[in-house]
Amino acid sequence: MLDGITFTLDGKEVTAGPGETIWQVANRQGTEIPHLCYSPKPGYRPDGNCRACMVEVEGERVLAASCVRTPSPGMKVHSASERAKTSRKLVFELLVADQPERETSQDPNSSFWNWADRVEVADSRFPELGRPNKVDDFSHPAMAVQLDACIHCNLCVRACREVQVNDVIGMAGRGHLEQIVFDFNDPMGDSTCVACGECVQACPTGALMPATLIDAEGTYTNAPDREVNSVCPYCGVGCQLTYQIHDDKIVAVEGRDGPANQNRLCVKGRFGFDYAHHPDRLTVPLIRKEGVSKHDVDIDPMNPFTHFREATWEEALAVASGGLAKIRDERGGNALAGFGSAKGSNEEAYLFQKLVRTGFGTNNVDHCTRLCHASSVSALIEGVGSGAVSAPFMAAEDAEVIVVIGANPTENHPVAATFFKNAAERGAKLIVMDPRGVALSRHATHMLQFKPGRDVSMLNAMLHTIIEEGLYDKQYVQANTEDFEKLAENVKNYPPEEMEKICGIPAETLREVARLYARAESSIIFWGMGVSQHIHGTDNSRCLIALSLVTGQIGRPGTGLHPLRGQNNVQGASDAGLIPMFYPDYKSVEDPEVQAFYEKYWNTKLDPKRGLTVVEIMDAIHAGKITGCYIEGENPAMSDPDVNHAREALAMLDHLVVQDIFLTETAKYADVVLPASAWPEKDGTVINTNRQVQMGRAAVPLPGKARQDLWIIQDMARGLGLDWNYGHVSEVFTEMVGAMPSLANISWERVDREESVTYPVDSPNEPGHDIVFGNGFPTKTGRGKFVPAKLINPAETPDLDYPLVLTTGRQLEHWHTGSMTRRSNVLDAVEPEAVAYMSPHDLTRAGIKTGEYMLVSSRRGTIRLKARIDDRMPVGLVFIPFAYAEAAANMLTNPQLDPFGKIPEFKYCAIKIERDLAPAEAAE
Ligand code: SF4
Ligand code: SF4
Ligand code: FES
Repeated sequence: MLDGITFTLDGKEVTAGPGETIWQVANRQGTEIPHLCYSPKPGYRPDGNCRACMVEVEGERVLAASCVRTPSPGMKVHSASERAKTSRKLVFELLVADQPERETSQDPNSSFWNWADRVEVADSRFPELGRPNKVDDFSHPAMAVQLDACIHCNLCVRACREVQVNDVIGMAGRGHLEQIVFDFNDPMGDSTCVACGECVQACPTGALMPATLIDAEGTYTNAPDREVNSVCPYCGVGCQLTYQIHDDKIVAVEGRDGPANQNRLCVKGRFGFDYAHHPDRLTVPLIRKEGVSKHDVDIDPMNPFTHFREATWEEALAVASGGLAKIRDERGGNALAGFGSAKGSNEEAYLFQKLVRTGFGTNNVDHCTRLCHASSVSALIEGVGSGAVSAPFMAAEDAEVIVVIGANPTENHPVAATFFKNAAERGAKLIVMDPRGVALSRHATHMLQFKPGRDVSMLNAMLHTIIEEGLYDKQYVQANTEDFEKLAENVKNYPPEEMEKICGIPAETLREVARLYARAESSIIFWGMGVSQHIHGTDNSRCLIALSLVTGQIGRPGTGLHPLRGQNNVQGASDAGLIPMFYPDYKSVEDPEVQAFYEKYWNTKLDPKRGLTVVEIMDAIHAGKITGCYIEGENPAMSDPDVNHAREALAMLDHLVVQDIFLTETAKYADVVLPASAWPEKDGTVINTNRQVQMGRAAVPLPGKARQDLWIIQDMARGLGLDWNYGHVSEVFTEMVGAMPSLANISWERVDREESVTYPVDSPNEPGHDIVFGNGFPTKTGRGKFVPAKLINPAETPDLDYPLVLTTGRQLEHWHTGSMTRRSNVLDAVEPEAVAYMSPHDLTRAGIKTGEYMLVSSRRGTIRLKARIDDRMPVGLVFIPFAYAEAAANMLTNPQLDPFGKIPEFKYCAIKIERDLAPAEAAE
């Protein structure tokens, strides 16, 4: 090994790599050395405080802590000498003296007790020291704190401060009075803890435990009886996890060492698992009762039988597919539409779009990508020839400058955010650009809180600076791009000194960040829906692409373009063709060659015209052009803009089939409801934001008569006359690979074996390419294309009647339309009700106090919810999460579309607020 250090371990010559400790070398060699305060997991620094890992070094008077000691050439180390073993045993004896009784303790199977067994220590000769500050803290709904088992190893502090960088846990006191504290010695439930659970996962003793595993007395009672490896069902980060199961119920979740998460999880992935076991789960097929109006949707999801009757699967499938077939046969396939899901597997997405295209005979198929990154994808395909990211978010580790714009990753992509925070801690320049003062700004070197909707002015000013000051990479531009002149000509009109008045960021700051970004060895851009959800979302992304291309900050380590994808499988669902204008792999439905390929591949005639998008489908229903819909795992009655319009459309349909796990707001309008599978109940692959294809596995059984989504889709297809006979989910994956060059060299077996495979990948035995575009672009010319962007005002600006701006999004605890997270005990306990985040100034001006109810109205509707003061919010801007059915933010949002991506302007519309004068009791 290059730069290796050769030394002797237990009589054998071994070599340590750069920086490797004795413990790490021993571990690599298969030599077991106890450890308590050291975690070999990535991101954990050794601290050397417990002395459980002592080894003997020849010629040295004292023993050495192998977890922190690095070897020197020729050193002779004995890991199992009598002296070393006696010393380690003594450490355990001293610690055992103060431990609670093992049988009734919080975790008799803890790492601590396991090591104690291995060093053969069961009890202690030493007297119990007694702890004056013995604390049981059950104030947090997710985690139990019982510090009588704490050994002060400090791992939780490092987990909190150095791995997840949340800075909540600290050590207070001295000597035997030392103890861990949350913030200023607050109860954990009252502290600023974000419940990532990293400390619980790190704790070797059970002093910190998932609350689900212990009883009210704090004793370990709910031991898992089996484990299943899978992937998180929530965001596009794609954290790998292990479900811990007791009696066929998930009781806890642990993070695994996946490429995107390195054992880390956030509160949703770790504690938001119990939705799958919620009593609201749909367990039988339902058919709307005769005579029950579609406008009557006042239904308790726990008791759907007021409006629906139970049906057999045979009847439900016959009615569901029969109703759609009738419309197809009478009015043609274009009178039908399908919404697939970004929360299911690739295989489900592929089969769903195939069903719509070959069974309905239309391209009217879409999913929530339309509502999150459609504009980013459209700009990326146009600019660099591919809609996927050019580098994984882990590339932040190698970046000198990190730009995060229009994204709130600490809440929406929390594990990705930990890597951004890690990078900032090691000295990377973190430039955060967002109208809201998002939490990541605490770690930023530069926070540009620009005016909402004015992204293009800010980004064009940066491009202006880079070109005017000659900071662009001339060689790169010449060799790899086209239409530079058009860009240069356009951005001449946007000097920072002028744009300052529009975007609100001082010209000097605009110039400074432009210089930083351009001059750095490596700069990378991450963006979220703050960029994409505008009528100029495509233009926003075009500017980001231009920044990257003009400076050559792409295709190398630490550089690139990364739109942070929202749902767990939005990348995969888009790749699989759940899009009205594209077959799988973004092949145009209007390209005759592509169409010919698919007609042969699927053995049927196909519609040569692009289909309608999510919002266009709702308009087409209002226009009477579409009368039947099949909706699988989507909730447009909550997620569409101007949701009243969408709900009216759903009620107008002649035939609506909804396949879901709960009676969602959308399912309430259905003629037939098909009870389906939650993520932990199914096998299937997903693709995360990093282009990593990962394996999800069935961990628990389906409830009642619910069935796997994949087989429901297949039965629906058969009902529509298709001769489908897939026997295993892997057969669908294999068919996908046959049509999708992007998945070349990736088989079901490979994903199952390797857990995660990044595409593109050159051979079945090599790892995939994390970083792409090092060698040109997959465009027709092989060059990246500059597309200039001009300033466009948001579609609906504030006026005297509606003087404030509304922006919508997600919270850390609640995911998308809330159908899963609001049915998770922990998540709902932490964030139980709808709130609007506002600046102190706006609240004072409206005479509303934080916690009081208020009415928020736009030209499209009114909702009622509580005010929450947030001093990071700028004056004039209100943020409302869209997860709450009782105060659906999308009642207010504007359905105006970006002309290219067809994405609505969720991030900007005009609203007004009023104090709610209704009596307080009425509110409860
Ligand atoms: S609570 Fe657990 S991780 Fe934290 S110091 Fe105590 S034993 Fe170590
Ligand atoms: S960061 Fe995303 S994928 Fe990871 S645990 Fe949280 S919600 Fe799940
Ligand atoms: S594990 Fe090495 S000192 Fe604690």
